[in-house]
Amino acid sequence: MPQFCVVTFGCQMNAHDSSRMEEVLIKSGYRATSEVEQADVVVLNTCSIREKAEQKLRSEVGRLGLVKRRKPELVICVAGCVAQQEGDRLIKSLPQIDLVIGPDNIPELPALLANIETGGLPQVRTVFDVETPAFLAAEPSLGPSLASAYVTVMKGCNERCSYCIVPHTRGPERYRASGEIVAEIKRFVATGVREITLLGQTVNSYRDPSSALEVAPGVGSKQFTHTRFPVAAEDESEFAALLRAIAEQVPDLMRLRYTSPHPRHLTPSLILAHQELPVLCRHVHMPVQSGSDRVLRRMIRRYTSAEFIERTAALKEAVPGLTLSSDMIVGFPGETAEDFEASLELVRTVGFVSLFGFTYSQRPFTPALKLEDDVVDEVKSARLARLFDVVDGNKERHLRSLVGSEAQVLVDGPSKAGNLSGRTQRNEIVHLSAKDAELPGCGVGAVVQVQIEQAFKNSLAARLTRIVVPARSTIERPLTVQSTPQAAPQRRQLQVI
Ligand code: 5AD
Ligand code: SF4
Repeated sequence: MPQFCVVTFGCQMNAHDSSRMEEVLIKSGYRATSEVEQADVVVLNTCSIREKAEQKLRSEVGRLGLVKRRKPELVICVAGCVAQQEGDRLIKSLPQIDLVIGPDNIPELPALLANIETGGLPQVRTVFDVETPAFLAAEPSLGPSLASAYVTVMKGCNERCSYCIVPHTRGPERYRASGEIVAEIKRFVATGVREITLLGQTVNSYRDPSSALEVAPGVGSKQFTHTRFPVAAEDESEFAALLRAIAEQVPDLMRLRYTSPHPRHLTPSLILAHQELPVLCRHVHMPVQSGSDRVLRRMIRRYTSAEFIERTAALKEAVPGLTLSSDMIVGFPGETAEDFEASLELVRTVGFVSLFGFTYSQRPFTPALKLEDDVVDEVKSARLARLFDVVDGNKERHLRSLVGSEAQVLVDGPSKAGNLSGRTQRNEIVHLSAKDAELPGCGVGAVVQVQIEQAFKNSLAARLTRIVVPARSTIERPLTVQSTPQAAPQRRQLQVI
């Protein structure tokens, strides 16, 4: 059996695409390996959101080129956003590459590889499936963890944030039928998965192409005072309706999350869904990007800081104890010291407990290319460090406030120290003691009640008080994909931030 290795760069969406590639390859008779040196085919699933990520690809291809000198039959395939963005330019500049394949062409991967393996020329396949969008069903038998899984609800992005390459690399928004989404979640839950995260570039702009959802309560409500674009009922997304359908039709699901939403679609109906559906976790990642209205306008984010603050405050009021995290860019073209102070002020006001912060990086095909990248690197780095200081303060205060309280933890794996750890509904990381980990029923996939005893910089330590749902010792996983049973591929993930 030929062996393959998929190396993942970047975001959750890419990690999810890597799983789909692994599935189609296993179905076609390949075997997974996490060792690049042992592989006959290496797929580099790339990210182009920032320039650094692209540089990483180039050095990885260089390294593989050396392996290829020793082993000329090695097939190097570049997938993901850089593949979509660069197309045949990649093969021209890096001749070691045999195949370039875009995110929408994953089902064609085995056929394209077969062609190359039988002597075909290097190929480029980067076509969006706009007319008949396909969503490859995820296979529970190959999921990365027993505790939680990702389910795609939409792909592409119709926003035009001026700094962002995603609309170019992922194409326009296409949505998956709600019935398909619910069926996939049911399949995961049947194999013991407790937590589902819905995935999409702007996940909460979801609309059901099969028109099977009922209008959600709260649609069209005029709840907000700060609204530049009054939301007409017919303009509202159907995301809240999707959440309600999942909660109703998969009652055994214990936790439901989603990533990443756009603040524009943080609507009254979504807030009401959070208030009424206990399955929805009390943590939302809501990218804000900047706290300055001037910068937000130049970023084409289509909301003001007042709108963001009003909507997130309404969400927090509806769900007591809910926490928020976010994404922010510092050093966007023209960002002044005053603009940056407005970002810090917003982080304090909203109280984000964690944040992915990025220094602005100019990307090809983006509208912001017309603006001069005029904030020098030292200033960008200094701003990022100050931003992290403020967020760290928020996080530490928040974690300390939890000491002595009770929480439910979904155990998701061993921590670095080797003991079991998991996450609360609010996504806080909790470490269990070695003694607790030995209790019968305590293991990956268990839901346990704990008392928080200690707060660290980024996590909590707790004492187990009760096992709410035990871990399953053997999970009945349907082996629908493999002809011979295989372990789930060990993922090589390169976090590029
Ligand atoms: N420069 C820096 N950060 C960026 N992001 C997107 N594009 C850029 C860019 N050109 C960040 C945004 C987004 C996250 C996934 O990456 O904060 O939410
Ligand atoms: Fe990029 Fe904006 Fe779309 Fe997010 S919403 S993927 S930042 S264009």
